[in-house]
Amino acid sequence: MKHDFHVDFSLADVSPEEIGLYRSGLREGRAKLASQGEAYGGWYSIPFRYDGKELRRIKDTAARIRRQCEVFIVIGIGGSYLGARACLQFLGESFPREKAESFGAEELVPEIYFAGQNLSGSYHADLLDLIREKEVCLCIISKSGTTAESAAAFALLKEALHRKYGKEEAARRIYAVTDRRKGSLREEVIAEGYESFAVPDDVGGRYSVLTPVGLLPLAVAGVDVDELLAGAADQNLQAQDTYAAIRNALWKKGKRIEIFESYEPSFFYFCEWLKQLFGESEGKEGRGIFPASLQFSTDLHSMGQFLQEGTPIFFTTILNIREPRRDAVIPESAGGVLGGKSMNDVNRAALEGVMKAHRKAEIPMVRIDITRGDAYAFGQLVYFFETACALSGYLSGVDPFDQPGVESYKAEMRKVLQTM
Ligand code: PA5
Repeated sequence: MKHDFHVDFSLADVSPEEIGLYRSGLREGRAKLASQGEAYGGWYSIPFRYDGKELRRIKDTAARIRRQCEVFIVIGIGGSYLGARACLQFLGESFPREKAESFGAEELVPEIYFAGQNLSGSYHADLLDLIREKEVCLCIISKSGTTAESAAAFALLKEALHRKYGKEEAARRIYAVTDRRKGSLREEVIAEGYESFAVPDDVGGRYSVLTPVGLLPLAVAGVDVDELLAGAADQNLQAQDTYAAIRNALWKKGKRIEIFESYEPSFFYFCEWLKQLFGESEGKEGRGIFPASLQFSTDLHSMGQFLQEGTPIFFTTILNIREPRRDAVIPESAGGVLGGKSMNDVNRAALEGVMKAHRKAEIPMVRIDITRGDAYAFGQLVYFFETACALSGYLSGVDPFDQPGVESYKAEMRKVLQTM
């Protein structure tokens, strides 16, 4: 099946000459990414050299988890959470059981829930209720092993498992993805004998979806992780470069916000993932383009006014699926311009209409079209944005791989907790 990944820059209001100004910066950025010395550039080569033995172990472990439980709880936050969540929603959120069989999975796919992505007592208490009568496995994902949200949720759910199964059986139902050597979670893995995977040393949280951080939960859900990696490896390098250059050129022209616009609800968490990727990579040293997202046509009825006539400090990146998974025809009885058309046709009309209106308002646009919302396309999107984001960060003069601002919130929160 053909997987088109088409990026249209023709409406971005940036000339080839302006893009050309970034050529040498892009070359330098690519050289940094490819060099072994670049501390957090490990993700850059992952799709092209994934360790086959580790991939086999991920799949075998996923098959075991499917046999063990009805509910699989993935505990993590930020980069240790958003990639898997985004992919599951992108592919259809909860996989019908028949679908798992068509992926080649012999076992039923468990229900998948997320924990530790917030500090809500209500959310976690509800989750504990929900799993009371179910067979459960946990997967704790934390590179540092010290993040408060994940640690709190893990302690809560682990205790529930201890009560339900006893410590020994609970340990057979706990899986961990963390640093290879450091951190209290790694120490616990060694002490308790949990099955575990490592987050590579040279891959930071928000660039880790194509490591066991994303691949293990996705394999449990029955996602074809080979397709995901194959899609990630299928790239147009020039499009990545141009997008990085255009973002910097638009910054120079006073654009301070990038709005990711999508027309399928299945993009919601992918846009959350994008916001983390760009926000943490570029938002530092008083610089950066603020990443935002809007779901259309829903948000046209709340933000449409601002988009057309508000402060002109943004540009948009449109995410479009050419062949949505399903469709529904609007009955003739609807009459007018709607009767007899399909929902997807009307959605397409919304997209075309919004683009025309944006054009009139002189809003710069980048448009990305994928053929279908499948695992291959998800891999293409992930790696396209990861690379373009890292290059864009280099062009703007920041380190796209640190997040001192996040660290500062963590430290301050710890101090407050000590006073309670
Ligand atoms: O991108 C990052 O590094 C962060 O957003 C982390 O993913 C997030 O803070 C969670 O950290 P950890 O995986 O150490 O629990």
